[in-house]
Amino acid sequence: LIASTTLTSFASAAMAADVPGPNQYYWPKGMNLSKLRDHDSESDPYGSSYYTSYHKKFEQLNLKEVRKDIEKVMLTSQPWWPADYGNYGPFFIRMAWHNAGTYRALDGRGGEEGAQQRFAQLNDWPDNASLDKAKRLLWPVKKKYGEKLSWGDLIILTGDVALNQMGFKTLGFVGGRPDDWQSELIYWGPGTSFFPNKASFQVSKDGKLKHPMAATHMGLIYVNPEGPNGDPDPTKSAAMIRLAFGRMAMNDEETAALIAGGHTFGKAHGAHPNSCLSGAPIANGVENQGLGWADHCIKGKRTADDASTSGLEGSWSADPIHFTTQYLDNLLNNDWVLTQSPTGAHQWRTKTNDNIAPDPANPNDPSKLRPIMMFTTDIALKTDPVYHKIIARWAEHPNEFADAFARAWFKLVVRDMGPKSRYFGNEVPKETFVWQDPVNTPAKIINQADVRELKKMVAGTGLSDRELIKTAWAAASSHRVTDHRGGANGGRLALMPQNGWAVNDPEELKTILPKLEQIRDKFNAGRHGGRKVALADIIVLGGNVGLENAAKKAGVNIQVPFAPGRGDATQEQTDVASFNLLEPTSDAFRDYHRADADGTPPLNALVDKASTLNLTVPEMTVLLGGMRSLDVNTGHSSNGVLTKTPGTLTPDFFSNVLTMDTRWQKVPGQEDLYEGFDRASGQKLWNATDVDLVFGANPELRAAAEVYASDDGKAKFYNDFVKTWTKVMNLDRFDLQR
Ligand code: HEM
Repeated sequence: LIASTTLTSFASAAMAADVPGPNQYYWPKGMNLSKLRDHDSESDPYGSSYYTSYHKKFEQLNLKEVRKDIEKVMLTSQPWWPADYGNYGPFFIRMAWHNAGTYRALDGRGGEEGAQQRFAQLNDWPDNASLDKAKRLLWPVKKKYGEKLSWGDLIILTGDVALNQMGFKTLGFVGGRPDDWQSELIYWGPGTSFFPNKASFQVSKDGKLKHPMAATHMGLIYVNPEGPNGDPDPTKSAAMIRLAFGRMAMNDEETAALIAGGHTFGKAHGAHPNSCLSGAPIANGVENQGLGWADHCIKGKRTADDASTSGLEGSWSADPIHFTTQYLDNLLNNDWVLTQSPTGAHQWRTKTNDNIAPDPANPNDPSKLRPIMMFTTDIALKTDPVYHKIIARWAEHPNEFADAFARAWFKLVVRDMGPKSRYFGNEVPKETFVWQDPVNTPAKIINQADVRELKKMVAGTGLSDRELIKTAWAAASSHRVTDHRGGANGGRLALMPQNGWAVNDPEELKTILPKLEQIRDKFNAGRHGGRKVALADIIVLGGNVGLENAAKKAGVNIQVPFAPGRGDATQEQTDVASFNLLEPTSDAFRDYHRADADGTPPLNALVDKASTLNLTVPEMTVLLGGMRSLDVNTGHSSNGVLTKTPGTLTPDFFSNVLTMDTRWQKVPGQEDLYEGFDRASGQKLWNATDVDLVFGANPELRAAAEVYASDDGKAKFYNDFVKTWTKVMNLDRFDLQR
C-alpha cells in the first residue's frame, strides 16, 4: 500500500507539473543506468575539454592575489548575513569541511572535487544549513577569476585562508579540482527521510553501517552532534564518531585532531526554533534566489545574534577567531553537565557556567559575555579512553596538536584528488604521505623498440592469453575515478593486499606474476640506454599480447595501443589497510559477486563498477560481452561464456544472448543462476547470471547489444572493444589525459 501510494503521488506530481515521469517513478525496481550518464559534457558550458584542461587555467592564477581577495570578503560583514565577531573565518572553515567531508573511503565517492555542494541535494541537506550564504559571500571572488578558479578550489582555498588569518599554519594548498555542472547521482544511504527525523538514522542496532556509507544519518555528512539519534550519551557518540570518521579514511588521531581543531573556532547557531525557518534552498520560492532557511522570526535589523542553523547555541572557546588550545583546555579542565540550547537541543555547559565567551554581534562588549558550551560529540572525545589519551597529550604538547591538525586537515581536503601528480599550484607541500599512494616512475621511459622486445619476451613466458588478459584486467580495473585511486600504475597487483584479493584468483596470480617480474628484471639488467621498465607496464602490455592473440584466433588482426610510462611502488609505499578499501565486493566483468556484498543486487553492482571505471552504456556493453568471450571469469566460471570458442575474442556473447533459439530458465534454488536450452533440441547450452541475461532483457542494454550482434557490427565490435579496454588500462594515466 505504501509503495503504491508513493508511486501514485510521484506520478500525479509529475503529471500535475507537466513533467515527464522517469521510468523509475513507475517501475522503481527497474534497472537504472543513469549513473553511466553522469558528468556528460553537454551540461558543461566550457565544453568537453574543461575537465582535463582546467588545471592549465588554474596555474595562471596569482594565488597571493586571490588570497587577499578572499581575506577581504572574510573580514567585511554583510548586512544580509552579519559575520560573527566581524569575521567569517569559522563559517568558511565549516563550509570547506562540509564540502570535503562527504568523502567516503569505501567507494571513493563524495569529497570536494566537483563542488557538488553547489547543487541539490548536498546544498539542501540539513547539515549544510546556512552554507548557501557562505558560498554566496564568495561569489564576487568566483566572478573575478571565472574559469581559472573552480568553486571546488575556491572553497578549499577559502578554508585555508580562514585558518591562516586566524593564526593557524596549514601544510599548503593544492589546486586542480574541476567543477561539475550537474548534481551527481550518489546513493547516500538507506535513510528514508532527512535528519533530524528518526528515519534518517542509518546505523543498525548492532552498530553496522551499510557499505559504502560514511554518514550515520541521511542529510548529515557525519554524526548527530546531540548523540546517536538524539541520545546524549557520549560513549555511544564516540562509537558513531569512530564509525563515521573511519569511513572517511580518518584514524583516531586524525579524527580527534579534526574535531578539536575545527571546534577551536566559531560557534553554533540556535537563535530561533526550526519553526521560524523556511525550507531548504531548492524548495524556496524563486524570489529567494537559491537561498534557503529564511528566518521569519527576526524583527527589525538582522544582527549576528539572529543566526539559526543547527539549533545548538554557543562557542567552544572564549576566543573563537584565533587558533588556541582553549578547546582542549576547556574540554579537559571543566566538569560538563547536560543542558539544552534555547531551541531545546541537547548540549553541555560547564558546572560554573561562567560568562567568558564574546557575543557575536558585540564582541568587544564585556557586559555581553556568555558561557561556552560543548556538544555530546565533543564530550565523547573526553570520555572515550582512546580519544582522551590523545587530546590529553595535545593539551600538554600544543605543537603536537597543531601538527596533527595540519596533517589531518590537509588529508581531509585533498583525499579525493588521487595521487600527487594531480596536484597543481605553487603551494603544494613537498612532503609525500603514504595515503597519496606514491609510485616510482622510471627516469627514462622505454621506447617503441623496447616495447616490441618486451612483447616477444612476454610471448616467450608460455603464459596463456587468458592468464595475461586476466592479470591486466585485475591490475587496471582496481582504479576508481571517484577518488582516482588504484589502477595498474604502481604495479601494486604484486603487493599486499591486492595480490591476495579473492577476485584476483590469488593462487593463479602467484604463478603468473613471477614470470612477468622476471621479464622486468632481465630487461632492466640489460643495456637499454638507461631506460627501465616497470612491472606495471609489463602487466598491461601482457594484456595487449593476450588480446591480439585472442582476436587472431578469430581471424582478426587488432593492434591494442600501448603507452609506456608506468612506475612501480614498494610494499612500504603501500598502506595495506587503506588499499584494502579498494577490494571489489563485485566485478561483473569477471562474474564476481561476493555473497556478503552488503545486499547490493548484482545488477546495481554492475552499473556501480562500470561507473567507477567511467564507462558509458555502450562501453560497459562491449567490454562485458567481449570479456565473456575471452573466458576470463574469476574462478574460471563458465557463466555467461556464451560462445563455442572460449578464449577467442568474438561478439558471440551478443548474438547468443539475443537469439530466440535459446530458452532461459532459472536454476531451481539458485537466486541468480540460469540455464539456456536449445529450443528445438532441448539440449543445454549455457549457464548465465542476471548480469549476462540483462543484456537481452533490459531494453536499453538490448539496444546496445543489438549493435554488436548485427551482421554489420563485427568491425565496430573489435574497434569499440579495443578502445574501451585501452581506456580502462589508461584510467590512471593522468599524464596522458592532459
Ligand atoms: C560548527 C557539528 C566536526 C568545524 C558546528 C556546528 C555543528 C557541528 C552542529 C554548528 C553549526 C551552526 O549551528 O552554525 C560537528 C560534529 C562534528 C564536527 C557533530 C563531528 C563529530 C567538525 C570538524 C571541523 C568542524 C572536523 C573542521 C575541521 C566547525 C566550525 C564550526 C562548526 C569551524 C563553526 C562554524 C561557525 O562559526 O559558523 N559543527 N562538527 N567541525 N564546526 Fe563542526
